[in-house]
Amino acid sequence: MTQLGLASPIPTKKSSGDPKGSPQCGAELSEKLASTRTTQRLSLISRHLDQRLPLPGLNTPFSTERDSQSPDDIEYKPLDRTDLSSTLPSATSSQPESPSPNISTMLSFSPWPTMRESTGGPSHVAPGFVKTFGETLTLVRKLFQSTNPAAQPFVISGSGTLGWDVVASSLVEKGENALVLHTGYFADSFAKCLETYGANATQLKAPIGERPSFEQIEQALKEKPYKIITVTHVDTSTGVLSDIKRIAEIVRRVSPNTLVVVDGVCSVGCEEIAFDAWDIDVVLTASQKAIGCPPGLSILMASPRALDVFKNRQSPPASYYASIGNWLPIMQNYENLKPSYFATPPTQLVHALHTTLSQITSRPMAERFAVHAQASDRVKAAVAELGLKQLAAKPENQAHAMTAIWLPEGLTPPDVLPGLLKRGVIFAAGLHKEAATKYIRFGHMGVSVSDPARNDVDNAIAALKEAMAEAKQAKGL
Ligand SMILES: Cc1ncc(COP(=O)(O)O)c(C=O)c1O
Repeated sequence: MTQLGLASPIPTKKSSGDPKGSPQCGAELSEKLASTRTTQRLSLISRHLDQRLPLPGLNTPFSTERDSQSPDDIEYKPLDRTDLSSTLPSATSSQPESPSPNISTMLSFSPWPTMRESTGGPSHVAPGFVKTFGETLTLVRKLFQSTNPAAQPFVISGSGTLGWDVVASSLVEKGENALVLHTGYFADSFAKCLETYGANATQLKAPIGERPSFEQIEQALKEKPYKIITVTHVDTSTGVLSDIKRIAEIVRRVSPNTLVVVDGVCSVGCEEIAFDAWDIDVVLTASQKAIGCPPGLSILMASPRALDVFKNRQSPPASYYASIGNWLPIMQNYENLKPSYFATPPTQLVHALHTTLSQITSRPMAERFAVHAQASDRVKAAVAELGLKQLAAKPENQAHAMTAIWLPEGLTPPDVLPGLLKRGVIFAAGLHKEAATKYIRFGHMGVSVSDPARNDVDNAIAALKEAMAEAKQAKGL
């Protein structure tokens, strides 16, 4: 079952709680306080990692957890990891006596050996990897149904959010206007990112579950010149789908130089996107949703118009790592099968992306969109049968790879999500800051729907029915 955006902050280092430097007098007290604070903090940040604990309400930025009845601070007792000898394989145990030479052993005197020794991953300049990366970029073109050689794919280490930074730091200059179409949480965040780099972001907001009308968009574009307009294709917080084709048509007619930027993190690989035919300027996405890869890759497609805007900037790009200028030659070189370096690419993730994109593009994209639409129809019919309503009430506003479902009066996500979890199904709590405690989200994308051998959608629907009935009974509803 697809899990939607449920990241808990995971520390890379445990806080030491070292009270060194505190005055001698009261040292004992401050040590005790520091230790309590550390325990509390560790409890908060570590419990999601510990499989032995009963899983508390799922944590999202506007979590329902803060409203839940269970205490937030379960005492955290870390696993005893002092004796690692019993869990680690012995250094010699399963190693072949003399490993046959392959690309990872061949180059072990290069300056970046560690990852290869720990994981067997390739070097980013190994011929095999250069070919894989080059092909991956070509597959990204197919994913976006683009045949224009002047359009440019980018695959960069980072998450979907990095795509916002690339756009905000490379395509907009300080003081320029950006029109942000708002259909949920992710527009607020994109607007904040744009403002971080000095853009004037104007949000065109719609009520929850709706989207700005075509008339409002046209009107806004006529009011002042906008350097870019951003649209969240599917807002993961509300399940609202935007009509990119119509919006791009309006922009080209009313304000032809405005760049059309699509946040496709929750749509690429499951909703139709015709990059060239719809005359879009940027689609940004991430590896982990409908593309079905592990998280960690920021994927973008840029039009020649967007690249020209970058080239004609008056001021230097406002970021180093996120600058289109730094990545453009790298992507072009790799696609031409030449190794190249600006910052080290995550070789294993690129391999994984190559695998999933090869699978996705081995069938016509239209087939994939149709499969998602059919699964979506089944989910939405089941939701209606349960007497539940969607946040996106109008069919034309409804995404095909997720469904955001209002809970009945008297129920909150912590009443329902554990019942689903118990049945092996993870749904997400609400995310829209005005209504987070009132709804849940059901993701139905990628292998869950494209592999006919899996019964994920039917199982999830059955679990939803049972968990809802159980929750209602528990609350006497
Ligand atoms: C629509 C949308 N945009 C942007 C993002 C941010 O992507 P990431 O979490 O990979 O940084 C998400 C994440 O879920 C999303 O759903």
